[in-house]
Amino acid sequence: MSPAPALFEPITLRSRTIRNRIWIPPMCQYSAQARDGVATDWHLAHLGAFARGGAGAVIVEATGVTPEGRISPEDLGLWNDAQEQALARIVEFMHSQGAAAGIQLAHAGRKASTYSPFVEGSGSVPQQEGGWTTLAPSAVAYPGLAEPKELTQEGISAIIQAFADSAERALRAGFDIIEVHAAHGYLLHEFLSPLSNFRQDAYGGSLENRARLVLEVAEAVRSRIGEEIPLLVRVSATDWTEEGLTLEETVQVVGWLKERGVDLIDVSSGANAPIRFPIGPGYQVPLAASIREQAEIPTAAVGLITESVQAEHIVFTGQADVVLIGREALRDPHFPLRTAQHFGHRPDYLPVQYERAYR
Ligand SMILES: Cc1cc2nc3c(=O)[nH]c(=O)nc-3n(C[C@H](O)[C@H](O)[C@H](O)COP(=O)(O)O)c2cc1C
Repeated sequence: MSPAPALFEPITLRSRTIRNRIWIPPMCQYSAQARDGVATDWHLAHLGAFARGGAGAVIVEATGVTPEGRISPEDLGLWNDAQEQALARIVEFMHSQGAAAGIQLAHAGRKASTYSPFVEGSGSVPQQEGGWTTLAPSAVAYPGLAEPKELTQEGISAIIQAFADSAERALRAGFDIIEVHAAHGYLLHEFLSPLSNFRQDAYGGSLENRARLVLEVAEAVRSRIGEEIPLLVRVSATDWTEEGLTLEETVQVVGWLKERGVDLIDVSSGANAPIRFPIGPGYQVPLAASIREQAEIPTAAVGLITESVQAEHIVFTGQADVVLIGREALRDPHFPLRTAQHFGHRPDYLPVQYERAYR
């Protein structure tokens, strides 16, 4: 028998062994229509399909650690019991299909309180329509959005606490993996990036200072969840401009995150400024490969990975330890099973109900 493709080698992070290396990245659904941050049947069907489709791990969308941390009023949240219970039901289903359950904990900073793509309106949601004043390192707006309020030291401490509290709730809901969102121009990336952080205090200026918040969040989350659960951080490895956060700086920050108990870096890029950058198949894979090599930490690659052979090549050649399949998995939630079939691999987790489709 030929060995299993690299994609189907299990991967162990702390106490969790995950059945394969094809994972689903967080993808906002803007579908908590009651605006209470509580997951709905849509989330169960959406996330459940990926678990059924053979993914190793499924990471729930950016989930606000506070109400003000949501990107849109329809985002998920994890600051109360109702939200925790709704997620626990989804985790239970994911586990029944053999997938690991992950969740991305997020604070959207100055990019919070925006219209969901399915609601009429664009830019920032005004207060009278259920929006709120956003919070950021500095009172400087993202182009086209409302001006945020500069966070005080007290405000910063409350957010660190909120990340730890949500992580504890995630653990109680049964999640196997916690991911902290420090990418895409949201709060933690806003602190990291000189494009959005103009603070004069201990949280601004030098790289050490700009990284302080994400490091404190990682430390607080790790100390709250204990030693067993893998902790991931999603970074925007570069702002795609010399004036912004650079890959070299990110490598340094990742080294510090590693010292604070982060196990794997989910490598994305950009989105803290409307800067265009070259997009093509696997466009962010070189960033994941650099971080993996230079910071000596496992990475996940993401971004236009759409073909089975392409995905296998990334993991087999050691450019990343895991691939995340986003939009291709929206088109085909069974991408992992299709990939297994492509390589003539027969995983033991074909859903029995679907066996006849794979004979
Ligand atoms: C509908 C949709 C929602 C997304 N929501 C999130 C999110 O909640 N958090 C995040 O970090 N990235 C989010 N992303 C980015 C994806 O996780 C992924 O990085 C990106 O789509 C590139 O991968 P792909 O080419 O495989 O889709 C979203 C992407 C899509 C298409």
